[in-house]
Amino acid sequence: MEKVLTRNIGIEDSWTLRVYRSRGGYKALEQALDTEPDALIDAVKASGLRGRGGAGFPTGVKWSFMPKQPTPERPNYLICNADESEPGTFKDRLIIEQDPHQLVEGCLVAAWAIRASKVFIYIRGEYVHGARRLEQAVAEAREANLCGRNILGKGFDCDVVVHRGAGAYICGEETALMDSLEGGRGNPRLKPPFPAQAGLYGHPTTINNVETLSCVPLIVERGAEWFASIGTDERNTGPKLYCLSGHVKRPGVYEAPIGIPLLELIEEFGGGMLRDDRPLKAVIPGGSSVPVLTAEECRDLPMDFDSLAKRGTMLGSAGVMVMDSSTDMVQVMERIAHFYAHESCGQCTPCREGTGWLEKIIRRIRSGRGSLDDLATLESAAGHMRGTTICPLADAAAMPCQSFLAKFRHEFEHYIKTGRAAVTAG
Ligand SMILES: Cc1cc2nc3c(=O)[nH]c(=O)nc-3n(C[C@H](O)[C@H](O)[C@H](O)COP(=O)(O)O)c2cc1C
Ligand code: SF4
Repeated sequence: MEKVLTRNIGIEDSWTLRVYRSRGGYKALEQALDTEPDALIDAVKASGLRGRGGAGFPTGVKWSFMPKQPTPERPNYLICNADESEPGTFKDRLIIEQDPHQLVEGCLVAAWAIRASKVFIYIRGEYVHGARRLEQAVAEAREANLCGRNILGKGFDCDVVVHRGAGAYICGEETALMDSLEGGRGNPRLKPPFPAQAGLYGHPTTINNVETLSCVPLIVERGAEWFASIGTDERNTGPKLYCLSGHVKRPGVYEAPIGIPLLELIEEFGGGMLRDDRPLKAVIPGGSSVPVLTAEECRDLPMDFDSLAKRGTMLGSAGVMVMDSSTDMVQVMERIAHFYAHESCGQCTPCREGTGWLEKIIRRIRSGRGSLDDLATLESAAGHMRGTTICPLADAAAMPCQSFLAKFRHEFEHYIKTGRAAVTAG
C-alpha cells in the first residue's frame, strides 16, 4: 500500500514548513477554507474516519454535535489530544516529531469545519522533543499566515496553542485533559454534559487524537471516497498506524490499511518472532487496556475496530504487544496492574480501591504467597470495577485482568502451587 500518513517521514528536514509545503502541504487547508464547514463535516462522515485515540467514535458525527453559530462570548474550541500515555503506544509521537505540520494542518481544517476559533494541542510532558517541534511548526505557520488572524486572506481567525502536560496518564482522558488545561488537577468529569455541550472553560469543545486529525488533510486532498476505499468495510476505513513492540525482530510504527491481518503485521512488518525457536504465545492488540489474545485467537484476525470487537478485544490505540513462549503472563499482568493502580485519579471507590486490590493480590501470587481463593477475589474485584465509574480507566484495568485470568489461569495456579513461574525466560 502507498504510504500516505507517513509519506513525509524519512525525508530530510521533514518537520519544517519548507519541506512540508514543497510536498503539497497546506493545499488542503486552502481548499478547505473555500468549502462550507458543513460540507467538510459531511465529507469526513462519508470517509468513515473513526477516532484513532481508542474508542473509535465516528469523527464526522462528533464534529456535527458542535454549535453552528458560536459567539465571541461562547466560542467553539478544538483540542488535539497528544497525551499518548497508553503503554505500548507511540504512533502519535512519530507524526508529532517528524511531520508536525501535517498535524497542524489537520487541526486548522478541523477547526474551520467545527467553527472553532482556537486550537489547543495538549502534549504529554515527557515528549519534550515533540513539543519543541510542534511549537516550532506553529510559529512557522503563524509567520506564513497559515494560522492566526485572517488565515491565507480568507477571513478565518484561528490560533493554535501547544500546552505541555505534566506526566499523568489520566490527563489523556478527554475531560481530565480539559481540567488540566484549565490549570486544575486532571480529574475526569461526569458526562453529560458532553464536551460538545460544555467542554473547555464550559464552552463547546471537540477533542480528537493526533492521528485522527492527521487523516483530515488527506480526506480533503484525495476525497472521502478514496479514504473509504481503504480498509475492511464501510465501518473500518482508511490508513492506520500500528505500534509494534515486544518479541518481534523489528519493533516500530508501521502504516498499513486498517484491517491488515494481525499475523501479517507481525511477519511482514515486524520481521517475525524475535527468536525463531520461541513461538508466539499472546498478543495485546490495542494498548495495555484491552483484553489479551492467545496465539490461536490471533489467526485470521483483521486489525480493525469491528473484527477485534468480535474476538472479544479492541483496536484501542493500536499498541500491538507481541509475547513469545518465554513470557511470564503473571508478571505481565502484575506490571499492567501496577500501572493502573498508580494512574487512577482516585475519585471513584471501585477504581481507587479496585486497582490497588488487583495489584496487591497479583503481587502476592507472584511472590509465592497466594491462594486459590485469590483468583476468585481477583475475578470479583475486576467484575465490580466494570461500568461503575466516572471514566473508563477502571474498565481499562479490569479487562486485561479478566482476560489474563480466563486465558492463562494455569500460570496463576502454577505460581500458587509451586511459588514459581510456569515458564522460564531461558
Ligand atoms: C484513561 C484514558 C486515557 C486516554 N488517553 C488518551 C491519549 O493519550 N490519547 C488519545 O488520543 N486519547 C486518549 N483517550 C481517549 C480520549 O478520552 C478521547 O476519547 C480521544 O482523545 C478522542 O479522540 P478520537 O475521537 O480522535 O479518538 C484516553 C481515554 C482514557 C479513558
Ligand atoms: S475511573 Fe478511576 S481514573 Fe476514572 S475518574 Fe474514577 S477514579 Fe478517576
